[in-house]
Amino acid sequence: MSPRFEGRVVIVTGANGGFGSAVARKLASEGAWLVLSDLADEPAEALSDLDDSSFVYQPGDVTDPAVHHRLIDFAKERYGRLDIAINNAGIAHGHHRLHEIPGDLARKVIEVDLMGVFHALAAQIPALQAEAKAHDGCSIVNVASVAGLGGAPGLGIYAAAKHGVIGLTKTAAAENARKGVRVNAVCPAFARTPMALGEIARSNLPADEAEAFMARGVPMARLAEVDEIVTAILFAADPANGFMTGHAVAIDGGIGAI
Ligand SMILES: NC(=O)c1ccc[n+]([C@@H]2O[C@H](COP(=O)([O-])OP(=O)(O)OC[C@H]3O[C@@H](n4cnc5c(N)ncnc54)[C@H](O)[C@@H]3O)[C@@H](O)[C@H]2O)c1
Repeated sequence: MSPRFEGRVVIVTGANGGFGSAVARKLASEGAWLVLSDLADEPAEALSDLDDSSFVYQPGDVTDPAVHHRLIDFAKERYGRLDIAINNAGIAHGHHRLHEIPGDLARKVIEVDLMGVFHALAAQIPALQAEAKAHDGCSIVNVASVAGLGGAPGLGIYAAAKHGVIGLTKTAAAENARKGVRVNAVCPAFARTPMALGEIARSNLPADEAEAFMARGVPMARLAEVDEIVTAILFAADPANGFMTGHAVAIDGGIGAI
């Protein structure tokens, strides 16, 4: 059996981060060609074991609409096609009660986490509609959060942005269901990436106590492993998963079950 992503060209934003780099490594191991992007000028150490011929790296800020067009152009110039986009870049914010969130912080989180995905979709949808005329298996995966599925005490603006990502996902899925482009969201609970480990460090609690605090309310009583989230992102992106669109899939250790 050939690898799931053999010959597929995939854009990944936030590629230097915890999920982004792990997604990139797994996609490359399953035959994909990658266009990777993040804020930094260079790819992170976490991408250093990728074969140079399997990826291009392009720095960029997802809040800039032109960046998304540039990534699509890179995919076409370097590999001659585009199949999949994984809109993963995002930021969290320190814990504040909703009425205490500073306005400039709120705008920043909406700008990156929600508008960043909006700009990505605005560029990717027409490009993938055109690609879908030539080949099947075109799809977009937006990385949302369980904070996009319910209230998130202390993370109100992040929750609002991630609810918005799910709204964009479902709308884009419905609008493109007959155009050969699937659009889904993956909604992780806390996982062991630099983002969550930063939260733990900022908590001023011993790491095990901070983790237990973050895992409160999770029936499995633990954080997610990065690979568990990567598995779900690749499931949503898998060209063989051709009838799944418009879903916001929670990878949450059972939170949604109670
Ligand atoms: N780790 C978790 O517990 C968790 C849970 C739910 C959802 N998420 C979501 O998963 C995604 C990936 O997060 P992660 O946990 O891997 O965090 P991370 O901090 O390890 O990675 C995020 C990456 O996004 C990049 N980024 C931030 N702002 C950017 C911008 N404006 N333009 C381009 N790149 C930018 C960062 O440089 C970083 O490399 C995010 O959307 C996050 O909200 C994470």
